[in-house]
Amino acid sequence: MPESILVTGGAGYVGSHVVVALVRAGYAPVVLDNYANSTPAVLPRLHALAGYAIPAVHVDVRDADALRGVFRDHPITAVIHCAGLKAVGESQARPLAYYDVNVGGAMALAQVMGEAGVATLVFSSSASVYGEPEALPIDEAAPLQPHSVYGRTKRIVEDFLCDLAGANANWRIALLRYFNPAGAHVSGTLGEAARGRPNNLVPLLCKIAAGELANLTVYGNDWPTADGTGVRDYLHVEDLAEGHIAALRHLAGVRGALAINLGAGRGHSVLEVVAAFERACGRRIARTIAPRRPGDVAASYADATRAAQLLHWRTTRDLDAICADAWRWQQQGGRY
Ligand code: WQD
Repeated sequence: MPESILVTGGAGYVGSHVVVALVRAGYAPVVLDNYANSTPAVLPRLHALAGYAIPAVHVDVRDADALRGVFRDHPITAVIHCAGLKAVGESQARPLAYYDVNVGGAMALAQVMGEAGVATLVFSSSASVYGEPEALPIDEAAPLQPHSVYGRTKRIVEDFLCDLAGANANWRIALLRYFNPAGAHVSGTLGEAARGRPNNLVPLLCKIAAGELANLTVYGNDWPTADGTGVRDYLHVEDLAEGHIAALRHLAGVRGALAINLGAGRGHSVLEVVAAFERACGRRIARTIAPRRPGDVAASYADATRAAQLLHWRTTRDLDAICADAWRWQQQGGRY
C-alpha cells in the first residue's frame, strides 16, 4: 500500500503541485483545504493528472476536532503542511488573522498529529524569515530577523516545531524555507490562481501580457544591484514540489527538526525576469518605474548547498522554463 500523506492546503498553488509530485513518487496524498485561498475546482485537474480521484476533505486546519476525524478516516503516515496565509503586504494589515491561521493552524495540526502518533512533518516555511540578508547567498545559519508579520508567523512556527522535536525525540520535521516560487505545471492545467490582483511578479506579468492589467510598476531602479532593480531567487513550483518529496524521503532516516533552503541558488533582477517573460510570450511588457516598495530588500537568493547535500535536490528548471510554463497556464485560462 502506498504511504498516505496528508497535504494541508493541497488545493492551493504549492500544495496542488506537491499533490501531483507525491502521486508521481508513489505516495497516496490526501488533500485537506478550507478553500479560503483556493477552490475545489482544482480537484478534477488533480484527478486528471493523477489518474484517479484523490481523496479531499473540506477542513480548516485550525479545527482540531475535524483534524482528528481526518486522521481517523485515513491511514496518514506523514503530513506536508502548506495551509496558511502568505501575502506579505496583507499580513501587515491583518496580523491577528495571520497569527490565528499560520500559528494557530500549525499548533492544532501538531497537537492532533501527536495524538495520532504521526511524527513526520514537512513544513512550508519561507525565506522571509531572514528579512534583510546580512550576506549573500543566504544559508540556513543566517540570522532570522523577519521584516513582516507573515515572516514572523513562519519563524514562530519554526521555533515551536523545534521545541516539539526537543521535547520528544520521535518527531521528524523539515522546515522548508521557500525563496520565490513561480511558474506552473508543465501541462498548463495547474498554476497560481490568485483571487483578485496578484501580489507576485510572475503572475502579474502573466496578467499584463494577457491584457488583463495595463503595465508593470517596477518598484525601484535605484537598488544597489547590477541594473538597479530588485534581485530574487525564483524557483519553479515543480522543482519546489519535488523538494518536498526529497525532504519526506530524508526524514525517514533522521529525527529532530532541520531548516532547509529551497531555492535555485542564484538571483535574477526584475528587468531580467521581464526580459525572460517577453521571450516566453512574444509580447512587450509595458513598465513604469516607481519608488521602492516598503518592506522590500535589494537582493535575496539562497545558498542551496544543504538541500543538495542532504536531500540530493536542486532546481532543474531555469527562468525561461518558469516563464514558459507560467505563460502556458495563463493562455489556458490561468484560473480554475
Ligand atoms: C519580486 C520582485 C519586487 C511586483 C514575496 C514574499 C515571500 C514569498 C514570495 C511566500 C521584488 C518586484 C514585484 C511588482 C515589482 N511568499 N516587483 N513590481 O516580495 O520577493 O517575496 O513573495 O512565501 O515570502 O515576501 O516577491 O514577487 O512580490 O517581488 O517591481 O508589481 O519583484 O520589488 O524585487 P517577494 P514579489
